[in-house]
Amino acid sequence: MRYRRLGRTGLTVSEIGYGCASWWGKPRFPEADALGLVHAAIDLGVTFFDTGASYSAGEAEPRLGRALAGRDVSRLVIATKAGTFHAGGGRIARDFSPTAITASVERSLGNLGLEQVQLLQLHGPAIGELTDELRSALADLKQRGLVRAFGVNSFDTAVIEHVVGLPDFDVVMVDYNVLRPEREPLIHRAAAAGKGVLAGMALAMGHTGLKVAKLKGPQDLWYAARGLVRHRDEVLKGARFGFLHRQPGVTGSQAALAYVLENPHVACAVIGTTRLAHLQENAVASGMELPPQVRAGILGAQRR
Ligand SMILES: NC(=O)c1ccc[n+]([C@@H]2O[C@H](COP(=O)([O-])OP(=O)(O)OC[C@H]3O[C@@H](n4cnc5c(N)ncnc54)[C@H](OP(=O)(O)O)[C@@H]3O)[C@@H](O)[C@H]2O)c1
Repeated sequence: MRYRRLGRTGLTVSEIGYGCASWWGKPRFPEADALGLVHAAIDLGVTFFDTGASYSAGEAEPRLGRALAGRDVSRLVIATKAGTFHAGGGRIARDFSPTAITASVERSLGNLGLEQVQLLQLHGPAIGELTDELRSALADLKQRGLVRAFGVNSFDTAVIEHVVGLPDFDVVMVDYNVLRPEREPLIHRAAAAGKGVLAGMALAMGHTGLKVAKLKGPQDLWYAARGLVRHRDEVLKGARFGFLHRQPGVTGSQAALAYVLENPHVACAVIGTTRLAHLQENAVASGMELPPQVRAGILGAQRR
């Protein structure tokens, strides 16, 4: 596993990060398997773990806390999010008020069993929600030692552009993968401003032509349904990248990750997986050279 600096945070992160979200955090996914994946990720050299207060209907964060209990977390960078929370009945509510964000951080620390969150990202705020009052509450959390660095996770270009100009935030997490080359200028500008850049959805949620074709477990049905209901664009665009899964010497996921990590401004590609074999396959993508003919194929598919 290779490691990169996360902007100016002073933190170093593994090139492959593990996303503790979605099916991984759901009670229907066995606890032993979920915890085992975190432990295997640590053994593979993964040091960046990404979760959120609202992930998996609020179940992901305490589950990650249980996975970390009794482990040496000194080399790990545990990142969580605030601003969205599970409001019951599968509903996600938003609250970016200073009081709500402060309470969320305090709850997250309890859930994770940590004294400090290395990275707290605001989860999809609107520009108008990044008020002076909120920024002063964030400064207070830092001063109390509860949070080391702040970031914003957003897939809205205008929000990221705005955050790039704010000194309070050291990190941005954007949706960057083979389907989203249009993110590259923004990533470049963020890095030039000293921000650490995280690629969320680094595998385009698995929609590069493989998910719908292989339904082996309940998680596959869940991810396929999520794609069809909420991410049709990804599913449709992803169909152009089926060739990635027919290359010699590199799997489709490794090729897609190697593409993301070819971008020197990306510190870490964050991937969610519920399968050990996938985790191991993804870890190998760190340090892998993207074969020139595969790169050419990706660029061609992006232009179509
Ligand atoms: N999606 C969002 O809206 C979002 C928003 C903000 C942040 N994030 C962060 O980004 C992380 C990643 O996003 P994500 O989980 O939505 O999408 P993702 O990592 O792009 O894709 C996850 C999907 O890819 C599959 N997968 C992973 N490795 C694979 C492999 N080697 N071969 C084949 N399939 C593979 C997984 O299935 P298996 O379980 O079968 O491996 C799952 O269906 C999240 O965990 C979260 O921390 C996501």
